Amino acid sequence: MSEQTTRTIEARHEALAIDGGRPVRVEPLPLEFPGIHHMDGEEIEAALRPLRSRSLFRYYGVRAPEEVEAFESEFAQFLGASRALAVSSGTGALSTALGALGVGPGQEVIVPAYLWVSVVAAVVNQGAIPVLADIDDTFGLNPVEVERQITARTAGVIAVHMSGAPADIRALQSICRRRGIFLLEDCAQCNGGSVGGQRVGTFGDMAAFSFQMNKNMTCGEGGCVVTNNSHLYERAFACHDLGYARDERGRLQVGDAELCLWGKGYRLDELRASILRVQLKKLPGVIARMRRSKYRIRQALEEFPGVGLRRIVDPQGDTGCFLITTYPNPAIARRVNQALRAEGIVTSPQGVSNIVMTEWGLHIYYNIVSLVQKTGCDGRGFPWTLAENARLVRDYHKGVCPAADSLFERSILLAIPSCLTEKDEDDIVRAFRKVLSALGLNRG
Ligand SMILES: Cc1ncc(COP(=O)(O)O)c(C=O)c1O
Repeated sequence: MSEQTTRTIEARHEALAIDGGRPVRVEPLPLEFPGIHHMDGEEIEAALRPLRSRSLFRYYGVRAPEEVEAFESEFAQFLGASRALAVSSGTGALSTALGALGVGPGQEVIVPAYLWVSVVAAVVNQGAIPVLADIDDTFGLNPVEVERQITARTAGVIAVHMSGAPADIRALQSICRRRGIFLLEDCAQCNGGSVGGQRVGTFGDMAAFSFQMNKNMTCGEGGCVVTNNSHLYERAFACHDLGYARDERGRLQVGDAELCLWGKGYRLDELRASILRVQLKKLPGVIARMRRSKYRIRQALEEFPGVGLRRIVDPQGDTGCFLITTYPNPAIARRVNQALRAEGIVTSPQGVSNIVMTEWGLHIYYNIVSLVQKTGCDGRGFPWTLAENARLVRDYHKGVCPAADSLFERSILLAIPSCLTEKDEDDIVRAFRKVLSALGLNRG
């Protein structure tokens, strides 16, 4: 008897927990926060360095500051990029990058249907109009759909590497180059990811990273703008700070007419940079652990023809922090999800794991109420009501991205914590096997 037949027979005899059977596990799975699980005395020691020297500001202090600058050069080297500019959040990084790229009213910026609210916020806050493009089975932008959305007013594309794995970034890069528009990569959820050995964040004109607590490496809150273009770097530098350049001593330089901009106030401090330097050293190990766990579970799921697995552009470059499985219809996806949760495939309430993707809040375009309703902070509908945008305003209701709509309703997102034990992985695989076999998803 084959191993698979044995498992199927075993599963047939086991009642699902959702139907009153014994759950696979009762202990919640670990929380998802990848970098946090590997935080220890090293980060504590690092954080004490700027405190001991009482030099917390990045440009000058009681002693010469060094942490932010050192982090920027270490991070740029890690990515293989020429410049990195540390900022105080991923949202700040996106906003700084769009400022550097000169985005403003009268322009459209293409964004994916699967994203995070900050991506849209950064575009809207610049006075430009976000344009949704549908995704494909990579859960990233579908290059064909991007091309379809380009108009004479398109300034650029924000490609978001979602849920740990890269988008089809080479195809997007070639479209943007051919059409003469910018490519901004949002790598917040895919720090350390790569395609063909090249790190995400180095394919576009600019890239944005986040080091908020849910990310692959973290200092609680933080971000980074990355570019190989020195002109864009200088503009980003001015935008993230007070609108001007600074000299080697950190003093503002107001003499350069080209760098006479407006600052957004997103500087990073020495304390958080010192923590990031340690987290960066740990990042490859964190990713290796998540990837190993994810691919062990993914491989086990390959024996279920009724389960679709997200297309991964380059498995070697997947950071592994989420597993996405897709089912034939929404009712089956919901049933599998509820049954898995009943088997104990859940985290404690502070975490978000194992959900049908429609529940994934402001990652889903039609859940972003202020986008769907086109609201503005000024109460007069900025930027939708600006004269320059009169002909650009688009629709954001559910239905405008049908491929995404269908994938969200039929897919389950499972976080892969960076500290799963073999026993945790076994339990996840056992629960999937038990539920999928009981629901007949082991048949083609
Ligand atoms: C794809 C994406 N972009 C941008 C951000 C914004 O980062 P932050 O929370 O650091 O502002 C996030 C954070 O969750 C994100 O997931």
